[in-house]
Amino acid sequence: MTKKSRIKATLAAGLLGLLVLPSLASADEATARKLINSLGCKGCHTIEGSGGSIGPNLDKVGSQMAPEAIKQQLLNPKANNPNSIMPSQAHLSADDINALVEFLSNLK
Ligand code: HEC
Repeated sequence: MTKKSRIKATLAAGLLGLLVLPSLASADEATARKLINSLGCKGCHTIEGSGGSIGPNLDKVGSQMAPEAIKQQLLNPKANNPNSIMPSQAHLSADDINALVEFLSNLK
């Protein structure tokens, strides 16, 4: 490859990345929204303005909790509160957990 064609290839790959990345991000967001609805999180939590009040409102959880702490709450709610009534989500795949953590971390 000549230097010029290498530069062109790098630019093309970069452009492709710019096109692909946002669609990946929104796929994760769609996954997270589906999970939140199907898992019944809103039965206890207000998320994006709608839901219950048995658990804390999550609309600003991204500025209140680190992603790791959110993840721990999802996997093992009793770690923070031994009497927690929140169901563990440890049965979910790592991808699903990550989609939820990322989505919640962006609620600021
Ligand atoms: C049966 C009610 C209930 C359900 C269903 C529930 N939660 Fe919770 N959640 C709670 C309660 C209560 C807390 C407060 C901490 C505790 O007691 O564990 C909490 C805490 C949290 C926190 C930490 C917030 C904070 O400010 O401490 C996050 C994040 C969270 N829940 C996410 C979720 C997600 C995502 C779902 C759906 C997968 C879900 N919860 C389902 C009751 C619930």
